Amino acid sequence: MRFPFRVDPPRIIETRGDGTFEPARPEPLSGPRDYLKLFLRARHDYLGVFRGGDYGNRVSQMQKFGRQLVIVNIPEEVKYVLATRHDNFERKSPQMRRALECLLGDGLFISDGETWKRRRPLVSDIVHKNRVPQFARHMEEVTLDLARRWDTLPEGTVIDAMAEMGGLTAEIIARAVFGDDIGPEAASEVVAGFTSYQGLVDNINLAYVAGFDDGWPMLRTPRLRRAIGRVSRVIDRVVTNHLEGRSRDGSMIELLVRRQQKNPNLGLDRDALRNEAATIFMAGHETTAAVLTWAWYLLANAPWAEAAVHAEIERVCGARAPTVDDVPRLDYCRAVVEETLRLYPPVPLLGRQAREADRVGGIDILPAALVTVSPWLLHRNHDVWDRPHHFVPERFLGGWRPVPYSYIPFAIGPRICAGLQFGLTEAILCMAILAQRFTVRPLAGIEVRPASRLTLRPQGGLRVTVHPR
Ligand code: HEM
Repeated sequence: MRFPFRVDPPRIIETRGDGTFEPARPEPLSGPRDYLKLFLRARHDYLGVFRGGDYGNRVSQMQKFGRQLVIVNIPEEVKYVLATRHDNFERKSPQMRRALECLLGDGLFISDGETWKRRRPLVSDIVHKNRVPQFARHMEEVTLDLARRWDTLPEGTVIDAMAEMGGLTAEIIARAVFGDDIGPEAASEVVAGFTSYQGLVDNINLAYVAGFDDGWPMLRTPRLRRAIGRVSRVIDRVVTNHLEGRSRDGSMIELLVRRQQKNPNLGLDRDALRNEAATIFMAGHETTAAVLTWAWYLLANAPWAEAAVHAEIERVCGARAPTVDDVPRLDYCRAVVEETLRLYPPVPLLGRQAREADRVGGIDILPAALVTVSPWLLHRNHDVWDRPHHFVPERFLGGWRPVPYSYIPFAIGPRICAGLQFGLTEAILCMAILAQRFTVRPLAGIEVRPASRLTLRPQGGLRVTVHPR
């Protein structure tokens, strides 16, 4: 549903010093609380609603407009919600479910209960770390294709890094999920459909906040139906080809179809296959694209870190292009990706609906409360992190981790990202291949504004030029 009012966005803080960089973040709110303003702001971007105190060790709550809203920002309590009491907090917020159900049906990302329990091992196995090397050739080939395209750009051409990274990761995951045969046109059709869907999804479902248990279903406007249609047509065709034995390409869909054929009790009918394929495709590209985009922004503003990335790639790979086998030795590149995931976690809010009454951090939780763990707040918790808003990749060298449950870009507990190793390997590898050959520079004078829709991305994209090294 569209709402007619707008409020001013928060001011952006971004500072540079000698060897330091504090990247863009919204200024925390201050002054008296105006709840209407808060909700209007949250509809466009959740990050603009936090106050300075929210960035500390605390569990806070408010009950306005009929629903209890709780934010958990103490690492031990994060463990309690996402791991210890997973059974009570496994259910995604109805906002998330409502936003994605038209497209993903009962796909793993938004399912719960028995469906989630049955499907989780299947999907985890398909994208498991042991299979990453098998899919890594897509990562290498597609990134090298992009590098060749960048080579042909006339000097000074302005491109949108977010769109470039979105295209890159979508092509990689499309080949992994659907197989090589899908072809570039069908792949772009799926990507265009997803992008247009994301643009139409509301951030806040007001009916849910007002206390109606499942909120409002999304209005299936003609534009929304068109976006869904573009995605479904392609996926349905690929699934049919596999079910009818017309495709053998080692793709993730093929692996799922083979599992079902071996064990018909799995219940992976045509709809389930379609929903899981759409889920892996969606979960597996927006996120990595966002990390890569933020990494270019951070490296461009931190010359010492960019130099360390270049030096490491040269030491490990010499003049040849990095491959998946190099990833375990690209320690600094990994640290850059981990620090990028800390500062700009692609999924900045993990919202869960309490099944029954509970108690978290001394606060009584009501049944159906919306309990949120925010990697955005947790990763910038000033009681846990030194220089929480600064870009300091070195902190992650040597496998360093802060206190348990304070760094969770892939979530944690039983619902941890199924594609963690796929995503991490992909981000490191794509960054290394491109950084070896190019520097990426955001246009001078542009304001970078982190904005949280389904994922956390620079609002309006990131306009950059690329320069051969
Ligand atoms: C850097 C990249 C990635 C990040 C930061 C990331 C992050 C996350 C997070 C935070 C969740 C949990 C969301 C929640 O609980 O509300 C999640 C779930 C999931 N992710 Fe990822 N992800 C990434 C890449 C991938 C890739 C590449 C794939 C597949 C190839 C993938 C597949 C999934 C799936 C299937 C789920 C649902 C798991 C479940 O509910 O059991 N992700 N991801």
